[in-house]
Amino acid sequence: MNNFQSVEALFKPFEMGNLKLSNRILMAPMTRNASPNGVPGEDVAAYYRRRAENGVGLIVTEGTFINHPDVASEVPAWQEDVPHLYGEEALNGWSKVVDGVHEAGGKIFSQLWHMGARGHVNDYSKQEILELIEAFAQAAANAKKVGFDGIELLGGHGFLIDQFFWEKTNTRTDEYGGDIAKRTRFASEVIKACRRVVGPDFPISLRISQWKYDFYTAKLVETPEELKRFL
Ligand SMILES: Cc1cc2nc3c(=O)[nH]c(=O)nc-3n(C[C@H](O)[C@H](O)[C@H](O)COP(=O)(O)O)c2cc1C
Repeated sequence: MNNFQSVEALFKPFEMGNLKLSNRILMAPMTRNASPNGVPGEDVAAYYRRRAENGVGLIVTEGTFINHPDVASEVPAWQEDVPHLYGEEALNGWSKVVDGVHEAGGKIFSQLWHMGARGHVNDYSKQEILELIEAFAQAAANAKKVGFDGIELLGGHGFLIDQFFWEKTNTRTDEYGGDIAKRTRFASEVIKACRRVVGPDFPISLRISQWKYDFYTAKLVETPEELKRFL
């Protein structure tokens, strides 16, 4: 059997820094709208625990809202049942989710989500940008506090971080706009702020994507060279 047919590698343990996974099977983040008032309850804990019990190496939670007034953008109804990563009640809920996954032998990252302007980011003032970065950092600190094994920043699908990445939604002329490398500035400041609060060993991952929500022909980069500059 050649390497392309073999799935054996998926079942090998994975290690990076302090992160040790029993295999390389990762559960993708999937929004469930099942946390009334932003609070993940017992059913949410049971849902993630079942995935760990059945051998998923790493779970990435559904997108969880950071604490910012515009987080749900044009879909305010989502504010009601997308889980929050702030506030005592929601954090207690997450703590139970994490404990359940760990008891079942699994690992779990929290996905940090801000939906953004769903248009363009040109209107954000420097002050608002600093507030957004701080909101991400606070959420990262909360994720670590409740025991998550790491975080994933949602930087794809046309949401806030991706809106800074993409030339169509970011035509800013200040330090947050410009060529592909310059458009990564917001994300890199978010990552640095998260790193500052979680310390050197806590895993921080960034999800990126070519496509946008409901717009699958969009492209973040056109060539491998451009992708290299972006990364
Ligand atoms: C119901 C549903 C909800 C999703 N929610 C999220 C999400 O919260 N965060 C995210 O990064 N991706 C989300 N996605 C995208 C998935 O993580 C994944 O990339 C997508 O389903 C493509 O993988 P597939 O081809 O295996 O389905 C969602 C997908 C589905 C179907």
